[in-house]
Formats: sequence, C-alpha cells, structure tokens
Amino acid sequence: MMIAFTLLFLLVPVEAQFPRVCCTVEGIQSKRCCPALGSDPADICGSLSGRGSCTAVRVDNKPWGGPYRLRNVDDRERWPTKFFNQTCRCTGNFAGFDCGQCKFGWTGPNCDQKKAPVLRKNIHSLTQEELNEFLNVLDLAKNTIHPDYVIATQHWLGLLGPNGTDPQFANISIYDFFVWQHYYSVRDTLLGPGRPFKAIDFSHKGPAFITWHRYHLLSLERELQRLSGDENFAIPYWNFATGQSECDVCTDSMLGGRNPDNPSLISNQSRFSRWGVVCNSLDDYNRLVTLCNGTNEGLIQRGIMERSNGTLPSMNDVRSCLGLRDFDSPPYFTNSSFSFRNALEGYEKPDGELDDAVNNLHNLVHAMLNGTSALSHSAANDPIFLVLHAFTDAIFDEWMRRFVPSNATFPDEMAPIGHNRDYNMVPFFPPITNEEIYIPSEQLGYSYAISLDDADGGPAVFVLGSTLGGVFVGLLVLFLIFVLYLRQRRNRGFEPLIKADFTNRKYTEEA
Ligand SMILES: *[C@@H]1O[C@H](CO)[C@@H](O)[C@H](O)[C@H]1NC(C)=O
Ligand SMILES: *[C@@H]1O[C@H](CO)[C@@H](O)[C@H](O)[C@H]1NC(C)=O
Ligand SMILES: *[C@@H]1O[C@H](CO)[C@@H](O)[C@H](O)[C@H]1NC(C)=O
Ligand SMILES: *[C@@H]1O[C@H](CO)[C@@H](O)[C@H](O)[C@H]1NC(C)=O
Ligand SMILES: *[C@@H]1O[C@H](CO)[C@@H](O)[C@H](O)[C@H]1NC(C)=O
Ligand SMILES: *[C@@H]1O[C@H](CO)[C@@H](O)[C@H](O)[C@H]1NC(C)=O
Ligand SMILES: *[C@@H]1O[C@H](CO)[C@@H](O)[C@H](O)[C@H]1NC(C)=O
Ligand SMILES: *[C@@H]1O[C@H](CO)[C@@H](O)[C@H](O)[C@H]1NC(C)=O
Ligand SMILES: *[C@@H]1O[C@H](CO)[C@@H](O)[C@H](O)[C@H]1NC(C)=O
Repeated sequence: MMIAFTLLFLLVPVEAQFPRVCCTVEGIQSKRCCPALGSDPADICGSLSGRGSCTAVRVDNKPWGGPYRLRNVDDRERWPTKFFNQTCRCTGNFAGFDCGQCKFGWTGPNCDQKKAPVLRKNIHSLTQEELNEFLNVLDLAKNTIHPDYVIATQHWLGLLGPNGTDPQFANISIYDFFVWQHYYSVRDTLLGPGRPFKAIDFSHKGPAFITWHRYHLLSLERELQRLSGDENFAIPYWNFATGQSECDVCTDSMLGGRNPDNPSLISNQSRFSRWGVVCNSLDDYNRLVTLCNGTNEGLIQRGIMERSNGTLPSMNDVRSCLGLRDFDSPPYFTNSSFSFRNALEGYEKPDGELDDAVNNLHNLVHAMLNGTSALSHSAANDPIFLVLHAFTDAIFDEWMRRFVPSNATFPDEMAPIGHNRDYNMVPFFPPITNEEIYIPSEQLGYSYAISLDDADGGPAVFVLGSTLGGVFVGLLVLFLIFVLYLRQRRNRGFEPLIKADFTNRKYTEEA
C-alpha cells in the first residue's frame, strides 16, 4: 500500500511556471501547452480518462487601475498568453499542467478523496524530529533540480534565441524556482536597455498580495511533501508578533544565527550560511535586458536588528488588523485605508488609518530582518520567508473565519495590474486566478493549528453574510466565535492563532 501510494505521489506533476515538456521550439511557436498524460501521446490532458481537455486560456478583460498604464508592453499582461494561449483545463478535482495531479485538498488515484488538512504549526512547538525534517527537506529542495519546470532566461521576444531555434530556458533547483517566481512577479517592466518601469508589482501593493503568497507557499509545500515522501508535511509558521527587537528563529538550531566574524552573514554552524542567493541583481538584468537565470550570486545577508531601535509587530497589531472587516478598499493599492489587506501587508496602521510613514506587520518584519529579506525581488532566498509568510497567511485565514467573505469582496476591476479577481496570477502555470485561492485554508488542504473535521456552519453563514446587511454582522461574529470556541475546546492539543480572541485572558502579556 505504502509503496503504491509513494509511486503515485512521485508521478504527479506540480504547478508553477513553464513545464519543461512545453518549452520546445514547437511548443513556443504554437503557444500550446497541452502535454499527454503518461506514455500514450493521444492522451492529451488525460482526456482519454476524462481528466481534462486542451482549451483556450481565459484571461481577465476588466480594466485595471494603479500606476501601470501601458498596454501590450509587459509580457506579463494577460498572463500567460504571451507564452501560451492553450493549456489543459482539468475537470472535477484534477489539476496540474497535464491533469495528472489533484487539486489542493484532494487525494487518491481519482482525486475523489478529501485529504485531511495538514497542520501548519508554530516553529517553536515542533518536536526535534519535525524541525529536522523541515530543515533537511529545505536543504534537499535547494539542491534538487526541479523535476517538471524550467525557467525562462529571456523576455518573450528573445525566447527562442537569436536564430529562433534555441529555446532560452534553464534548469533550476526546487527552492530556487520558488525564489525565481517571487522575483519574476515583482521585476520591472523593461522599456529598453537600462530603462526599467518600476511601478509594477504582480504580488504586492494590492489585493493579490494575499492570494499570490498563499498559492506560492502552497506550491512549495506540495513540492516539499513530494520530496520528503511525507504527504502530511506542513510548513511551520513563525509568530513574528513578539514586540521584541530580535529574531527568535535566527538561531543555529532553526534558521541560522549570526556569524560572529561578519554580523551581516549567517553563522557557519548553520547550513543556511552556505546557501547561495539567486535573482538578486535586478539592475544588471535591466541593463542587460535579460532575466534572472538562476546563477549563484553570493550568500544570504541578514541585517543587524539590535542596533536599530525598532521592534517587531505586537499581538495588538495583529488584533487590530483583524478588526478591519473590508478585505480591501479603493484604490486597492498602498494608499488604501481601512483595508485589511493593506494593514496586514503593512502600508497602513494596524487599525486601518493611513499614514505615509507607516511600516507595519508583514513589511515591518521584512525591513527589520534587513539584508536579503528587505529586498522584495530577493527576499525569498532567505528561508525565513517561508515561516514569515506562513504566519501572514495564518492571520488572513483567521480573518476569513471571522468575516466569511463572499468572493465578491475581492475587487474584480480597477485593482493594479495582476490584482483583479479573475487575473491569472503571474507567473504561475497552468493559469490560476486570485479568486480560486480566496477560500478558507481547509478547502486547500491545510490548516493552522486548529483541526477542522466539519464544514457545516460554512454555507449557512455564507448565505447570511452575503444577503443581509450589516445588522447581522454582530450576530455572525458571535456565532463564529461560538463555533470557533467549540472547535478550540475540542482541540485542546493545538495552539490556536489568537487565543485572546476567544477568552480575552491570554496574550495580554507580550511574548
Ligand atoms: C494562439 O497563438 C497562436 C500562435 O501565435 C495563434 O495562431 C492563435 O490564433 C492563438 N489562439 C488564440 C485562441 O488566441
Ligand atoms: C545562427 O545562425 C547563424 C547563421 O546561420 C549561425 O552562424 C549561428 O551560429 C547561429 N547561432 C546560433 C546561436 O545558433
Ligand atoms: C535539464 O535537466 C534535464 C533532466 O535532468 C535535462 O534532460 C535537460 O537537458 C536539462 N535542460 C537544460 C536546459 O539544461
Ligand atoms: C566557523 O567560524 C569560526 C569562527 O568564525 C571559525 O573558527 C571556524 O573555522 C569556521 N568553521 C568552518 C567550518 O568554516
Ligand atoms: C546568467 O546570468 C549572469 C548574470 O546575471 C551571467 O553572467 C551569466 O553568463 C548567465 N549565464 C548563462 C548561462 O547565461
Ligand atoms: C541594515 O543593515 C545595514 C548594514 O548591513 C545598516 O547600515 C542599516 O542601518 C540597517 N537598516 C536597518 C533598518 O536596520
Ligand atoms: C531611534 O529612536 C530615536 C527616538 O525615537 C530616533 O530619533 C532615531 O532616529 C531612531 N534610530 C533609528 C536607527 O531608528
Ligand atoms: C493613491 O496613489 C496613487 C498612485 O500614487 C494615486 O494616483 C492616487 O491618487 C492615490 N489615491 C488616493 C485615494 O490617495
Ligand atoms: C463566487 O464563487 C462561486 C463558486 O466558485 C461562483 O459560482 C460565483 O459565481 C462566484 N460569485 C461571484 C460574485 O463571483
């Protein structure tokens, strides 16, 4: 049974940017990425077993707002149609570039078994064994070539090389692929050699901040599950809301302490001191009109937190942003006020008030870490990125539980490019929209330290919330708190994200 299961697991491909199998001259010229599933060339997208079919890519045609106003200049517009306009569309719970995979949260040979959510725990509460599994699988991912995906090393016009016969793609490790995706989503638009247009970002400064990073982590988590052979592996989170000035996961037993000889580097007692960074030289790529090709560009840098007099966010900041009931607000950008997304991302105060000087929650943590983590194109090189974003996502998940938002609360137009509800998130492939990820974590096969064995309250609450007005919000919140309280009692062994919201007793003292 175990062997059969492991084999099955090893055979399923994963989603991210372009599958190696499609990156041929023929594939690029035809703009068609509809591989056969398995060895029968007729089994396009698993169509012979009803898994999917090859169809035209759907793109968002609604107007966008934000500072990027050009048209048909950036190859990430109408993603991914500059590269591929036909991909597999999978039916039911099938997923993946060839429909050989299950949607997140489903398992089994026919993807019809609901997978018990994997539990993302506080990194400080992992057993030694769990912590070792996490660190080991990260190292393995850093050193294993991605089995299915390659990266483009040139912009789309140069994608087939000078003679149109030489596809410009490179192999990359599984971890560096994760880094590359983040870089690619934030890189500048090139108007010419050395003429970058910088006011563009497909994964920050807008509502997609939440959904993009959620999907990014989920895809890596799935890769790590595959690599470790542990279907229940989950990325831990770092509760960064300590209000302290030092980083309590920056120790040699976790994500690396400081090197006494060079305080901007990681201690050589940690394996992460040997990790090379990729995709850091944004200015060089702009000057040379090229893309990050995944070569090693030096070591991970961390700043010196103690010397600055700043502190990390506090649990009060987290509680404040959880009080904001609007997911986002016009203009769905860094100057949105009373926007949950903007508060969590860190461009407004935790209570939703706009203040140009503010730097809070997610942004503040990146800034405090300084070095590699403080540069958005490079940040994912530091493994702290995973645990930082897991906690950011946990806060969002808690917000979803409270407000049970309908998908209509995610703006469908006039958000910055890439951030509309139906936009395919850049550079994920096969295409997946923001809306598809704007659902509770249990539906995506994971949860945060609270196990859920039923979803019964969900639909009823959904209807209430979307049809009746604000009068019911109070009732709704009470009801939810009650449900959560019951679940919480049932799961004593787990640590809920915010105990204080149920009891008002704990977390009054800052950690
Ligand atoms: C897809 O791209 C190919 C190649 O450029 C083109 O011939 C075809 O018309 C496009 N199809 C759609 C549906 O846009
Ligand atoms: C491109 O074609 C030219 C002329 O046929 C040839 O000399 C050159 O080596 C080719 N370059 C590549 C990269 O294939
Ligand atoms: C990438 O690796 C695969 C398998 O290891 C190999 O077949 C392929 O030639 C490599 N591609 C490139 C562009 O190096
Ligand atoms: C680690 O650093 C210490 C002091 O900085 C040095 O003495 C030691 O030789 C280094 N060890 C390795 C394996 O580089
Ligand atoms: C990769 O990019 C670097 C600069 O970022 C460049 O020096 C190097 O030659 C490139 N490697 C390949 C194989 O293109
Ligand atoms: C980041 O680190 C550099 C030195 O590596 C230091 O000059 C700078 O003040 C630090 N910034 C912050 C915000 O701590
Ligand atoms: C430290 O705090 C003082 C007073 O609050 C402020 O003037 C100073 O700029 C701060 N220094 C740094 C490095 O943030
Ligand atoms: C928000 O910022 C954008 C870009 O800087 C600007 O065009 C817009 O007017 C601002 N909107 C508000 C409400 O401040
Ligand atoms: C919300 O999602 C559901 C299910 O995916 C869909 O049927 C419905 O049309 C969506 N509603 C809106 C307002 O987009």
